[in-house]
Amino acid sequence: MQFASRTERIDPFYVMEMAKTAQAMAREAVHTREQMIFLNVGEPDFTAPPLVQEAANRAIRDGRTQYTHSLGLDALREAVSHWYSQRFGVNVPARRIVITAGASAALHLACLALINAGDEILMSDPGYPCNRHFVSAAEGVPVLIPTTAEERYQLSHAKVQAAWGARTRGVLLASPSNPTGTSIAPEALSAIHDVVRTHGGLTLIDEIYLGLSYDEAFGHTALALGEDIISINSFSKYFNMTGWRLGWMVVPEAMVPVVERLAQNLFICASTIAQHAALACFEPESIALYEQRRSQFKARRDFFIPALNALGFTVPVMPDGAFYAWADCAQAAQKLGVQGSWDVALELMRRAHLAATPGRDFGHAETAHFVRFSTASSMAQLHEAVARLRRELA
Ligand SMILES: Cc1ncc(COP(=O)(O)O)c(C=O)c1O
Repeated sequence: MQFASRTERIDPFYVMEMAKTAQAMAREAVHTREQMIFLNVGEPDFTAPPLVQEAANRAIRDGRTQYTHSLGLDALREAVSHWYSQRFGVNVPARRIVITAGASAALHLACLALINAGDEILMSDPGYPCNRHFVSAAEGVPVLIPTTAEERYQLSHAKVQAAWGARTRGVLLASPSNPTGTSIAPEALSAIHDVVRTHGGLTLIDEIYLGLSYDEAFGHTALALGEDIISINSFSKYFNMTGWRLGWMVVPEAMVPVVERLAQNLFICASTIAQHAALACFEPESIALYEQRRSQFKARRDFFIPALNALGFTVPVMPDGAFYAWADCAQAAQKLGVQGSWDVALELMRRAHLAATPGRDFGHAETAHFVRFSTASSMAQLHEAVARLRRELA
């Protein structure tokens, strides 16, 4: 069978491939003393708060399960709008908010709405791999720009300016970023957006970890910069609802009908049950729980990153958000007698029963000697992970 050439531009998502291997090893090792610790997939170990679960049950029981409007439930769009004003002090009218099946569908819709064949989109290397594939799937060309620890692994206005060419259509940023957990400072973001505006381009920003910030200097939404920013977001991370498949994006008003037309045809709507449930995310009781969990994520970061550094898994920049550790594994590779992050990840799974993700997913520049650990597991699991790493690397 012959497949479309666009499929060749989409690499496997190695996080998921590695997760399959980890699951298979965990099944084989089911009778052994050590259970696999999964620090490979970036999802909170928490589940949706009780009020959210009850709201989902109520929606099912009451039969409120028909399709919704393609842009999402009005009440949910209003609730998201209210969250932006309460928490971030930014006025984002509900009419500019589009509810989607996770950030993934939002990214897909945004790329389809804005990118023509051959348009180049600038993004940071390392970065979340699927983002470049959303660009490719829309026949665009992702241009990965290597970034350094000194730059907090983020693009700068100077780099965007230098890379801008005749075919450049815009930038796709992520703040806080996956895999580094680092954000773009508001002034730096504003300077990038100015360069993009000068060229008449597009600023898209993936803000899926918005809310999960541990440093006052960051944790702002790019939407404060103006109506021409396109921000992608989700209920997956701060709201602990990965498998519910619910997200949103904020777009300029003129883009709403275009996205609506695409969403009507491609998705009809996001899950109705998840939408009804998500309304309860914004209840004070749920927000209080999310904030408690945010402190737990911070405590995990504060324990795990220094512990990794002490073991020679150097994390060049302390993450200010999200729940990842982007660690240089060159020293560990030497100690384990292997080469490159892929083999380090395999050896860690075999010897320490610890699953991490090799850097290769996240770009090309330095990714061969970096691994990503997710710190979204319990403190007990993180302590155990450190003990096992110490044992194997001693
Ligand atoms: C930066 C980034 N963007 C988008 C996504 C996709 O998230 P969703 O579950 O909302 O589709 C992820 C998931 O890990 C991510 O890390």
